[in-house]
Parts: sequence; C-alpha cells; structure tokens
Amino acid sequence: MTRFSSVLDLIGGTPIVDVSSLSPKSNVTILAKLEGRNPAGSVKDRVALSMVDAAERDGVLIAGKPDQILLEPSSGNTGIALAMVCRLRGYRLKVVLPTNVSPERRQLLQAWGAEIIDSPGSEGSNGAVRLAQSLSAENPDWVFLYQYANPANPEAHYRTTGPEILADVPEITHFVAGLGTSGTLMGVGRYLKEHRPDVQIWAVEPPSGEMVDGLRNLDDGYIPPIFLDNHGEDLLDRKVVVRPRESIEWTRRYTEVGLFVGLSSGAIMAGAVKCANLIPDDETATIVTMVCDDGWKYLSTGAWSDDIDDVVERAKKIIYF
Ligand SMILES: Cc1ncc(COP(=O)(O)O)c(C=O)c1O
Repeated sequence: MTRFSSVLDLIGGTPIVDVSSLSPKSNVTILAKLEGRNPAGSVKDRVALSMVDAAERDGVLIAGKPDQILLEPSSGNTGIALAMVCRLRGYRLKVVLPTNVSPERRQLLQAWGAEIIDSPGSEGSNGAVRLAQSLSAENPDWVFLYQYANPANPEAHYRTTGPEILADVPEITHFVAGLGTSGTLMGVGRYLKEHRPDVQIWAVEPPSGEMVDGLRNLDDGYIPPIFLDNHGEDLLDRKVVVRPRESIEWTRRYTEVGLFVGLSSGAIMAGAVKCANLIPDDETATIVTMVCDDGWKYLSTGAWSDDIDDVVERAKKIIYF
C-alpha cells in the first residue's frame, strides 16, 4: 500500500465498480464511482480542498495565520468536507444550519470542530443561505466561499474526477450525475466533452418543488452561477427527473450489489436506469454514475428499514442535504 503524508492526500482517486447486475438491459454496462471513499465521506472533499487551495492562492486566506474565519450555510457534504479541511489547515469554520437538520449532520460538523449558528427550521436551507449572506455582509473579514458561484468547484472535477473516469473507463458512452451546485456535471462534463465529444452528459433532478438530498431542479428559479459560466445548457445532453420515492427504491436496490449509499446516489441510479432503457437492443453502452456518499448520514430516514411511504413523508420534514 502507498504511504500518505496527510489525510488531504487521500482525497480523490476513488474506485469504480461494475454494478451492471442492476442494469435493466444486458447490452448496457453500468459502473459506479464510489465517492464515499473520500476521507470526510463524500464527493465534496474534492470541492472543499479545491476552494480552500484557491482562496490561499488568491490571498483571500493566508496559510498559517491564526483565527481566520470561514462561513458556510450548508448542513450537507460541503459543510462537512470544509470542516475537515479547515481543521487540518487551522481555520475556524462557522456553519449556518437550519434547526431541523438531521442529527447525524449536526454531530458530524461538531466532530470536525465546526461552530454552529442556528437558522429557523421553518425557512429551510434557503433561510440558512440568507442568514449567511447577512452575516457575511456584517463581517467582511469572514471568508464566504459560496460553492454555487466558486469556479474552484467545477475546476476540482475538471482536474480530478473527469480524468479519473476517462482513465478507468475509456469506453464510456454516458455520464449520469445529480445536479446540486452543478459542479460535478460542469467539471466532468467539460473534461469528457473535450476528450470524447460523443459522450452523453445526463443530469438527474428532483421534480420541481420537491427535494432529493443534495439535488435541485433548475426550474425552481435559482440557476447556479457556475452553471451559467460553464454554458450548462449546451453541456448537458439531457435532464431526467427522478421522484423521491424512486430514489429510495434504488438506494435499497444498491444493497443487492453490496453498496450502502446515500439517497442522491439512489436518485442517480434511477436516472441511469432510465438512460439504459433508451439504448436500442442492437447497440451497447457504458454508463458511469456517481455514488456521492455512503448511507451512514441517512440512517435516521429509515430508508432501508421502514415503510417506503413513511420514509418519503419523513424526508419532507427533516433536512438531509
Ligand atoms: C449527496 C449529494 N449528492 C449530489 C450532489 C450534487 O453535486 P453537485 O453540487 O456537484 O451538483 C451533492 C451536492 O451538494 C450532494 O451533497
């Protein structure tokens, strides 16, 4: 085994595994990239490190200077990944969290030493973003990396995730990923289109007005600046809508291949299966999908154990992303 000098060196280089037994068609191979293997547990480790490195390069953060404060309005994987990177780099991280966030997420942030600022649960994650924006205006010395507009987010995927996928799966025909900030799709999509223009890039979205953890529907009104900067409408070949119920069904089906994955990975697999079903019988295809994180943070949804109707209802009340 290789010896690493820092946990940060363990970010990226994630394995890809053949999960074609979940494919609805024998002529379609499906491969899953296991981002839960990153040290803080998700694809967002790449983004957190990339954004902090860029801020240090640009002089927004000064490496080694004590008491610099970063602010992040996310209970999701980005907050958790930033908490880990900040701990290692010696920065203080304040995370604005709605009070109804799942207990696993609050505790994980605390485990990495993040300071939590409560925002009203009734206002959801948009309320957390609003509070973070006003705190940032009142405290101009706090650093607000804002992943939705930060070019270092798609850049992380252009530099690392995309090349890893093409090196491991040169025969790739389709890349299917969830759309949250759009960083994964913009970065990997741009890399693949530059090197293999025929590869199809598919985005998985929840239905307008509904939530699947980590994912958003662009028709709900907010288009991430990084999506516009990267000409997302031209880069994406197709958007596919997946309902929360299908996400849970495919999260469960993933266990058949030995994988315990988060709910957005179930959503993405549901999208990959829709993609596979459209491949004509006399053609072959190789679809690469993302497993953004593992299932641990979602245990309190009861996604694997409870009645599926109860899980869908519960997921509307507690924030899991
Ligand atoms: C669990 C999970 N899945 C998918 C995504 C979507 O990835 P991206 O922000 O790169 O579009 C996120 C992002 O927040 C996430 O946390």
